[in-house]
Amino acid sequence: MKTISNQDIAGKILKLKKDKNAIILAHYYQVPEIQDIADFIGDSLQLSQNARSTDAEIIVFAGVHFMAETAKILSPHKRVLLPDLEAGCSLADSCPPEAFKKFIEQHPEHAVISYINCSAEIKALSDVICTSSNAVKIVESFPREQKIIFAPDKNLGGYINQITGRNMVLWNGSCEVHDIIKVEEVIRLKKEHPDAKLIAHPECRNVILQLADFIGSTTALLNYSIKDSSGKFIVATESGILHQMKKSSPDKEFIIVPMNEKCSCNDCPYMKLNTLEKLYLSMKNEKPEILLSAELIEAAGSPIRKMLELSS
Ligand code: 13P
Ligand code: SF4
Repeated sequence: MKTISNQDIAGKILKLKKDKNAIILAHYYQVPEIQDIADFIGDSLQLSQNARSTDAEIIVFAGVHFMAETAKILSPHKRVLLPDLEAGCSLADSCPPEAFKKFIEQHPEHAVISYINCSAEIKALSDVICTSSNAVKIVESFPREQKIIFAPDKNLGGYINQITGRNMVLWNGSCEVHDIIKVEEVIRLKKEHPDAKLIAHPECRNVILQLADFIGSTTALLNYSIKDSSGKFIVATESGILHQMKKSSPDKEFIIVPMNEKCSCNDCPYMKLNTLEKLYLSMKNEKPEILLSAELIEAAGSPIRKMLELSS
């Protein structure tokens, strides 16, 4: 049986993109061959800004469900496709709407700030959304005396509490990919590579962040690795980011903190569900498509738009 090469699939994708006036938005955690064919690669904030401003009729979202959902909310008249509908997020799943509603009721007088890694239902219960690149700015837009609930990531929330001196009430959620990073592994790699800088995503636990030379969103980590004079970096986040780091700085060395002894990677199983072939099929068949009720689009859209206004 004839197997189709990635190059052939890429050619078909490019043709479909033109024929259907589609745009491919990809997160940095996607496999390299998807990143290489995307029109735009970015962190969660940049991807939502792009989803809002694009002229394309179809947005093909190479990322996870909450990202594609956000794109649909910001561009409700466009068709938004997600190559694999099973591409969820453990952090988003750690915050079920019914339980969160009760949590809010238990904390009257609190404003609700939710990290973008949550479902549309959680967004609809929130006053404003944030991402890892604008969380400090969004939190600081509230008066100091304002009581705040921060959800769903306790690690990011704890980090923001630390640097802003606030005492936000944190929902007890986390990302299985970042939360699993072991401090022993980080210390071992630091000893093995004393000349390397440790860069970490704020979804990591506090013990890891305390050791880091730089903390930031995926785009911020990438930019730091380009601009910093160091030639070696220990990277505490998801492996996908290494593709752009290596492309941008081919002479520098990047060491990912491994998830276990068996591999030298730290892959998000949900992000990695998308493949080039699934991307092609989703464009050809125009499904799976993200569909949301008008009420949910309206309710979840207002806190997202508020974030975009505060970020511009
Ligand atoms: P950013 O791309 O905003 O840094 O978020 C990382 C992440 O975990 C996406 O799921
Ligand atoms: Fe969710 Fe973590 Fe995967 Fe990002 S890396 S999509 S937060 S499970």
